[in-house]
Amino acid sequence: MGKYALVTGSSSGIGFEIAKILASKGFNIVLTARREERLIENSKLIISNFNVKCDYVSCDLSDKNSPNKIYDFCKKNNYDIEILVNNAGYAIPSSFIKTSMEDEEKFLRVLGISVIALSKLFLPSMVKNKKGKIMIISSVAAFAPPTSFLSLYGPVKMFMNRFSDSINSNYSRKGITSTAVCPGFTYTEFHTTNGVQKQMDSMPGFMKKSATRVAKEAISDTFKGKSLSIPTKTYKVFVLILKVTPKFLFPLVFKMLSKNK
Ligand SMILES: NC(=O)c1ccc[n+]([C@@H]2O[C@H](COP(=O)([O-])OP(=O)(O)OC[C@H]3O[C@@H](n4cnc5c(N)ncnc54)[C@H](OP(=O)(O)O)[C@@H]3O)[C@@H](O)[C@H]2O)c1
Repeated sequence: MGKYALVTGSSSGIGFEIAKILASKGFNIVLTARREERLIENSKLIISNFNVKCDYVSCDLSDKNSPNKIYDFCKKNNYDIEILVNNAGYAIPSSFIKTSMEDEEKFLRVLGISVIALSKLFLPSMVKNKKGKIMIISSVAAFAPPTSFLSLYGPVKMFMNRFSDSINSNYSRKGITSTAVCPGFTYTEFHTTNGVQKQMDSMPGFMKKSATRVAKEAISDTFKGKSLSIPTKTYKVFVLILKVTPKFLFPLVFKMLSKNK
């Protein structure tokens, strides 16, 4: 049957890089995202480059039924998931009062509730097998002060870090580890898709990292069973600075960084 990894948001960016690295380590892969044509293309690439099986299920994680659809698909095909990568995500680049409650609910479903739902569905068999790994792709935004736009992005990522901790507290003695991965600015489709390319462009070059590098470090930390992964030295230092900086100085730090572009 072989070992399987499920990667959400694997039609592009960090998710697809993670899927390729896991395939190179011998994991059969289940891809999921909304864009079916990308999933077909990506699964073909994985099958032809790595000696593993790769299947996909297309669905929208803002739909309440999607986690069950993914789980049922895996169960029906006997894909026993050993690694669950919760990576799908986006941002709403709009001030809080301009978004509808429906927008925010969908957002929280994709970045938060679907992560909880998928973990709830796949954890029991991991516990039964006494082995399993969960990765939650969070963000350094979990440590940063909320910005004037992207109001719920940082807060939901912070919640996901705590959720990941909670999985570790409850299931690490049963052989399961959860790793909250907190990347900083990474070259993917994220910024164009979400209308925040200007913010990405205004960042100095040393703060922008490749998705391959981020995925590599994230997987290495996950296999070591680390509860927190902050890919690249730059962002390890960045998070340290965020942790020790008095909150009233944050606006000044951000101003300084955008002057350095
Ligand atoms: N790039 C960065 O600078 C950065 C920094 C920190 C953290 N992150 C986090 O990294 C993760 C991956 O983002 P990325 O940078 O790789 O961006 P990306 O290239 O835009 O990838 C986002 C992935 O999420 C999927 N997705 C978005 N909405 C979805 C929905 N409603 N249902 C199902 N899938 C959905 C997209 O696929 P479809 O459009 O095909 O559905 C895509 O595969 C996100 O959680 C993001 O918050 C990114």
